[in-house]
Amino acid sequence: MAAAAPTLAKTEKIWMNGDFVAWDDAKVHILTHTLHYGLGVFEGIRFYRRADGRRAVFRLDEHIDRLFRSATMATIHIPMTESDLCRAVVETAKNSGLTDGYIRPVAYVSSGAMGLFAISNPIHVAIAAYGWGAYLGEDGLKRGIRARVSSYCRLHVNSAFSKGKICGNYVNSVLAKREAMASGYDEAILLDTNGYVAEASGENIFIIDGKRLVTPPLTQPILPGITRDTVLQLAKDLGIETEERLLMRSELYTAGELFLTGTAAEITPVREVDDRKIGSGEPGEFTKKLQSSFFEHVRGKETRHPGWLTFF
Ligand SMILES: Cc1ncc(COP(=O)(O)O)c(C=O)c1O
Repeated sequence: MAAAAPTLAKTEKIWMNGDFVAWDDAKVHILTHTLHYGLGVFEGIRFYRRADGRRAVFRLDEHIDRLFRSATMATIHIPMTESDLCRAVVETAKNSGLTDGYIRPVAYVSSGAMGLFAISNPIHVAIAAYGWGAYLGEDGLKRGIRARVSSYCRLHVNSAFSKGKICGNYVNSVLAKREAMASGYDEAILLDTNGYVAEASGENIFIIDGKRLVTPPLTQPILPGITRDTVLQLAKDLGIETEERLLMRSELYTAGELFLTGTAAEITPVREVDDRKIGSGEPGEFTKKLQSSFFEHVRGKETRHPGWLTFF
């Protein structure tokens, strides 16, 4: 059985344009421009309760910085500063009453004019926090998931700005994910338009080649994942050699280990790609080491990278 996304646990309030409104009242007009044309930007952030009982948002500044970069790519002017938005995210996390949670900021083009241009429609910003378990399942985190190479390609670099988390880009991901699930797999791996490995529908991808950790470079049409960056830094801390280079599809099949990284999926091992067993078919040593270091940083006691944690 393919792993479905975890059930979302509602919280009481959602932040909308500076005010908290009841969860069920956080609505938009049917002529919201973004709903029709997909021009909007969003983020996915997690906060965790750590071993000392305090809660911390993981890599908040980097997420908000990426949101603003996405907005620049999307010609959206977010009507607030990065630090105001960081404060609003923390406030939303605090108000949620959750120990661990997922935060979804979104900036979108609201209603007013219709048609593509609609440059004067106000930009609205909302932030929701909710409980959300392991995106690819608890079992996936422990035992690994099954992935397939998608029939969909990541969009060409001049067709979509993959460096941004832009709403409309995700049609490509949703279709790839649905195709993968419908054919009995947990996740889709997308190639670029030249046939090289890009990323999964909502995660970056890593393989172990010999003793080296390899991932596609940021010049590929991939999201510059914050978990990807975290893993590269953790690998350095652990003395694991890393390389960012083009990856061929065949290297997925012959990899010693393979895993996916993302805020939602954290570090999820992949045990099979296109029905070929990866390594022994169980999460390998490198994956387990990086996974445990990651969890030690987000919810354990590790404070080697204090800048990654915003306590509240
Ligand atoms: C397409 C895509 N790639 C990669 C990632 C991983 O990025 P991050 O680790 O910043 O969550 C995500 C999730 O945000 C994504 O949507």
